[in-house]
Amino acid sequence: MKLLSILVAVALIAIVATEAQTPVAGPLIVPQPQSVNFGDQTLQLNPDKFQIETSSSSQVLAIAIKRYQQLFFLFGAGKSSAPAATLNIKVASEDDTLDFGVSENYTISATTDSLAIMADTVYGAIRGLESFSQMIIYDFASQQYTLPFLPVVIVDFPRFPWRGIMIDSARHFLPAAFIMHTIDALAYNKMNTLHWHVTDGQSYPISSATFPNMTLGAWDPAATFSIADVQEIVAYGKTQGVRVVPEFDVPSHTYSWGAAFPSIISNCPDSFNGNIGQYPLTPANNLTFEVLDALFTEYGGYFIDSYFHTGGDEMPLACWTQDPAIVEWMTDLGWTTVEAEQYFEDRLDAILAPMKKTKLVWNDPFVNGVQLDPTTVIQVWDSSFQDIVNAGFNVIVSYNYYLDQQDPTGTVQWMFENTWTNFYDSDPFDGINSNLDKILGGEACMWGEQVDQLSIDVRVWPRAIGVSERLWSAQNQTDVNNALTRISPFTCRLSQRGIASGPLSADFCMLPDDFESYLRGPRDRLTPDQIKSLLVNNKKQ
Ligand SMILES: *[C@@H]1O[C@H](CO)[C@@H](O)[C@H](O)[C@H]1NC(C)=O
Ligand SMILES: *[C@@H]1O[C@H](CO)[C@@H](O)[C@H](O)[C@H]1NC(C)=O
Ligand SMILES: *[C@@H]1O[C@H](CO)[C@@H](O)[C@H](O)[C@H]1NC(C)=O
Ligand SMILES: *[C@@H]1O[C@H](CO)[C@@H](O)[C@H](O)[C@H]1NC(C)=O
Repeated sequence: MKLLSILVAVALIAIVATEAQTPVAGPLIVPQPQSVNFGDQTLQLNPDKFQIETSSSSQVLAIAIKRYQQLFFLFGAGKSSAPAATLNIKVASEDDTLDFGVSENYTISATTDSLAIMADTVYGAIRGLESFSQMIIYDFASQQYTLPFLPVVIVDFPRFPWRGIMIDSARHFLPAAFIMHTIDALAYNKMNTLHWHVTDGQSYPISSATFPNMTLGAWDPAATFSIADVQEIVAYGKTQGVRVVPEFDVPSHTYSWGAAFPSIISNCPDSFNGNIGQYPLTPANNLTFEVLDALFTEYGGYFIDSYFHTGGDEMPLACWTQDPAIVEWMTDLGWTTVEAEQYFEDRLDAILAPMKKTKLVWNDPFVNGVQLDPTTVIQVWDSSFQDIVNAGFNVIVSYNYYLDQQDPTGTVQWMFENTWTNFYDSDPFDGINSNLDKILGGEACMWGEQVDQLSIDVRVWPRAIGVSERLWSAQNQTDVNNALTRISPFTCRLSQRGIASGPLSADFCMLPDDFESYLRGPRDRLTPDQIKSLLVNNKKQ
């Protein structure tokens, strides 16, 4: 390292250290709630005499209460002799159907005499429990838990209804337990959508009852999800208010599908210089659509969410001009490659319609000039999206939110973790000046080429915390110093819960004895009966 860069490095450390000391008054909650009013009284809490009660009969809330009863008191019983206290949860609706747009609004009202969370739905109550957990402070010296800043009133609701992380189980297999662990992390960040990029060119890891040989395209028979795994992941998401939206990326990125059905893959071996990643399906063989129909219809039953992502990115149109069978088919119909792509997307719409699913695609078909059905939701990754919202499409923003890149916005960063500020500074409204109501929210994307379950946590967290606050908190909540003051204790809290979220500056984070048991797995497993009833009870009334 040259002397100058050492000096710059030292100067930057000094700046970071100063930033960390910016005083922020009141409870340190991430994401910052919409409104917090607080006082200066403190209530001692006694874990042995602390209860969470509700009149709701929701199974989802009962599971959440059990989880937060543990998360409130991660360091055991402590030494408190404080009297009993009860946190009352009032939920207006008994309907615990989880889908896009469900209310996550909540209010916390706490005094030294009464502790309450009020919400429209159990999912609002779960967000309130998370905020409440972050208000509880454990003092290691006295072994006391306290709730400071009383009386407190928090009125909170999300800025955007779609807030998620995308993970990729195809470039590297991610065990089902790890995916549920990621759902824990999402819920701690008040994110509500796990976008699961299930398949890609390199592997097809998900079992199918219709075509059991699809997993011939997996890396290994051990690197596969059983149908029971998928159902457990979806049900587990519901217990945390996290929708699990699957992506089956077609027509490109499908080489692995050819292990079971070689004839549905385009024949253009010269197109990719041996890089199989983007090999596309052929639109010229009806078997392609028969296989897609059968698989999507089957999977649509396991993934209860009403959104279904069919990818559509990086379609190498030149490949279709190198496969003689596709060329003949296009010539007969008088079609260009874009018209062939149009035909492909239209056939997908026809498959999804009876499944009653809304199609999500990446921005590529739109950019190519494909006329998408107006109900399609477009996820933006590499394109300006003013044209897309002007055309009337709803949008999920991932532009500037690529976690697989150290630097998502083009600024040089010398400290990896500091790139959290690039995410934090990127607003979904950036670069857009009209039709803002078309933006449903955003997703941070963790592509899997260079991560596996041993390394993904530390790449995603704490950087994605910047995205979680950007998508939940008010638009004017942009002060990085204020955020850092809250995110530093929060990333420690994540580590204490077994999410390997890194620190942002020099500090000490006390870890509980059992944190390692949660490092790559979920905190609770569900019983088969719970899974069944969680899935059955999600039918819309
Ligand atoms: C949540 O509260 C906000 C602010 O009061 C309101 O605009 C929004 O409609 C509420 N959301 C739902 C789903 O009820
Ligand atoms: C996979 O199964 C399907 C139908 O069950 C069959 O048509 C296909 O030939 C099988 N593929 C292989 C490679 O055996
Ligand atoms: C392929 O399917 C389409 C739509 O069902 C149908 O119109 C067409 O005739 C079929 N083509 C062949 C070659 O079977
Ligand atoms: C954001 O705007 C609201 C409403 O104008 C205001 O009450 C609040 O203090 C602002 N927050 C920040 C962090 O500037």
